Amino acid sequence: MSELMIGEIPVSQLVAKYQTPLYVYDEKKLEDTIKAFKQGFQSDHFKTKILYASKAFQTVEMLKLIEKYDLGLDVVSGGETYTALRAEFPVEEIYFHGNNKTPDELRFAIENGLNHFIADNEMEVELLDALSQEYNKKIHVMIRLNVGIEAHTHEYIVTAHIDSKFGMLYESEACQKALNIIQDSEQLLLEGFHAHIGSQIFEMSAWLAEIDKLVSYLQDFDDVLSLNLGGGFGIRYTENDAPLPIEKSVQELVSYTEEALKKQGQTIQQLMIEPGRSIVGEAGTTLYTVGFIKETPHKKYYFVDGGMTDNIRPALYQAEYTCDLATKLQSEKSEKVTVAGKMCESGDVVIQETYLPVAESGDILAVYATGAYGYSMSSNYNRALTPAVVFVKDGVSKIVVRRQSYTDLLRSEVL
Ligand code: LLP
Repeated sequence: MSELMIGEIPVSQLVAKYQTPLYVYDEKKLEDTIKAFKQGFQSDHFKTKILYASKAFQTVEMLKLIEKYDLGLDVVSGGETYTALRAEFPVEEIYFHGNNKTPDELRFAIENGLNHFIADNEMEVELLDALSQEYNKKIHVMIRLNVGIEAHTHEYIVTAHIDSKFGMLYESEACQKALNIIQDSEQLLLEGFHAHIGSQIFEMSAWLAEIDKLVSYLQDFDDVLSLNLGGGFGIRYTENDAPLPIEKSVQELVSYTEEALKKQGQTIQQLMIEPGRSIVGEAGTTLYTVGFIKETPHKKYYFVDGGMTDNIRPALYQAEYTCDLATKLQSEKSEKVTVAGKMCESGDVVIQETYLPVAESGDILAVYATGAYGYSMSSNYNRALTPAVVFVKDGVSKIVVRRQSYTDLLRSEVL
C-alpha cells in the first residue's frame, strides 16, 4: 500500500472531501486506548476513576466518546465547563481544576450543578466556602498539593519546584488553613488530595514517589479520603520515545497504592488519574498539502498550508514529530528537508529535519501523533483559519468541527 489509510479510509479521499489542513482522529485508536486505561486501572480495595484531562483536546464529540466509556472529566475553565455542559456530560463526573478560577467561573459551575472542585490555594477554598453557603450546596473539595516532585521524561527531581504556581505544600500554613476552613464549613466536604507531577513521563518511579507522598499525608486524617495522581503519561512522537504500556503501568499505580496504604493501615475511597495527551495524542494525524518547495544554500524546505497556528508545540517546546508524504509511502526517502509552515514567523517550523521522498506541490503530508494540544492550542495568528476536525472509523468519516471561514474571523468584531 503506497497510500496512508486512517480508519480504513485513504487519506486522499479525506483531503478531497474536507481539504487541508485537517485534523484526523482514528476513533478506534481512541477507544482502544481508553479501554486499556480502564482495563488496567481497577482495584479490589477502593474505587477507581479515570478523568479525561480535556485540555488536551476538547470537542463535544470527544466528550460524548469519553462519556460512552464512563470516564470522568477534568475541566480547567468556564469555556471547558460550558463545552462539557453542551455535551450533556454528567455534571457529577466533572472535576473543576485551575489555579485562578474566577468568581464568575465558579458561580457558573456551581449554578450548573458541578460539585467537585480541585482547589489550588487558600483563597479559593475561602471563596468556595462562601459560595457553597450562598447557594446552599454541598461541594466536594480536593486540595491540589505540590508534592515537590517534578517528573521529566526519563527522570524526576525531588524537592523541585516548591515555588510552582500550582498547588500548595502540605506542610504550609496556607494548606493547613485551607483544611481548617473545610473542616469548619457546613457545606464543604474534603474529598481528598490531588497532585500532578509532569507531562510526557516515561518512568514509573516518579509516580511511585508521588504516591508515597500523598499516602503519607493521609495519616493525619480519620476520614476515608480520595487521591488523584494527575496525568502525564507519555506517548510516542518519534522513534526516540518509549512510552510505558498503558494497561500495565496504571495497574502498577493501583497495586503500589494498595501496598502503600496497607503498610500504613489505611484505605481510600477512590484513586483517580487524569490522562489527557495519552488518550488523544497518537490517535490524531494532521494532513497538510505541500505548497512551494525551496532550496537555500544549506536546506531544502517543503512548505505546508498550516503550521504553528494548528500545532504550536514545535515552536513553543521544540517538540519533535514524524511525518510522511501520505501518497508516496513506498518511495525512497532521498531528501533531507525541513517542513515549515506558512506563518510569518521564523520559528514556524513543523519538523526541523527529516527525510522524505521527492515531493511535488500538491502532495499530502501527514504529521503523526498530533492529537493532543494541537487543536486545543490552535490560534488565528495571521488570521489563519482553524482547520476542520474529522473522526474516522471503519471506512466512515464524520465531521466534528467544520473548518473556520473568513466570516468566523470577524464574528466577534463590532463592525
Ligand atoms: N491534570 C493536570 C492537573 C494537568 O495540569 C494536566 C496537564 C493533565 C492532568 C494532563 O496531562 P497529560 O496527561 O496531557 O500530560 N501544552 C503542553 C502540555 C501541558 C499540560 C498541562 N497540564 C504540551 O503541549 O505538551
